[in-house]
Amino acid sequence: MHYLVLISLFFSLQAFGATLISRQFPSLLIPVSQDAPNTALGTQYTGQVAIRNGSHQIYTEVLFDIPPNAATSCNLSFSISTSRPAPWTLTPSPPFPGPFIFNISTLSSAPNKCLDTWNHRPSVKDWVATVEVKHDGSVKMTGGKVGCLKGQTANFLVYPGRAGTMGLEWFEEADPVHGITYEMWTDE
Ligand SMILES: *[C@@H]1O[C@H](CO)[C@@H](O)[C@H](O)[C@H]1NC(C)=O
Ligand SMILES: *[C@@H]1O[C@H](CO)[C@@H](O)[C@H](O)[C@H]1NC(C)=O
Ligand SMILES: *[C@@H]1O[C@H](CO)[C@@H](O)[C@H](O)[C@H]1NC(C)=O
Repeated sequence: MHYLVLISLFFSLQAFGATLISRQFPSLLIPVSQDAPNTALGTQYTGQVAIRNGSHQIYTEVLFDIPPNAATSCNLSFSISTSRPAPWTLTPSPPFPGPFIFNISTLSSAPNKCLDTWNHRPSVKDWVATVEVKHDGSVKMTGGKVGCLKGQTANFLVYPGRAGTMGLEWFEEADPVHGITYEMWTDE
């Protein structure tokens, strides 16, 4: 009796669950700075998003190279590793409670790692996600669904979600997963 119940529970979870088949890390992270509006900062190992008193902003362009595979749905994810420490900073420091909010939107074309600056870069297209980060490493993402751009690049802009003051810097890591990733799922 218990055995049968467990078996049917198992199959229903399988039937309605999605399976992660690929997790992509950014190929390019290109910051652009409002304080150095004509300087191309190139591609970096750390992502940055900042705003100070509503100005002095730093955005990061993110490019993923998406493999062709059997994925049926895709989304962005943002994680802070709390199980094992990974490099990241969130400012202002405690006790400043935040909110620390950034948004992610698609770009109208692929970023250029050699040329893009604050004044010269692809325009922003559609909102994808709003992400709230706290000092304890907790992350809340609203939205996140993206098209599965198989065999293409997927291009995004990470920018402050509201006026005020916040700064987030993170170093991408795969183990444990830390930073922005592009996840590819199949339905079963
Ligand atoms: C924001 O502006 C106020 C008033 O001008 C100033 O006192 C404060 O130090 C500024 N904060 C930051 C983070 O620059
Ligand atoms: C991405 O989609 C999968 C499958 O639909 C879901 O389980 C997961 O929670 C989603 N992740 C985010 C960050 O939305
Ligand atoms: C960020 O996204 C939220 C939710 O869509 C929106 O209300 C807010 O205006 C956006 N912020 C910026 C700076 O575009």
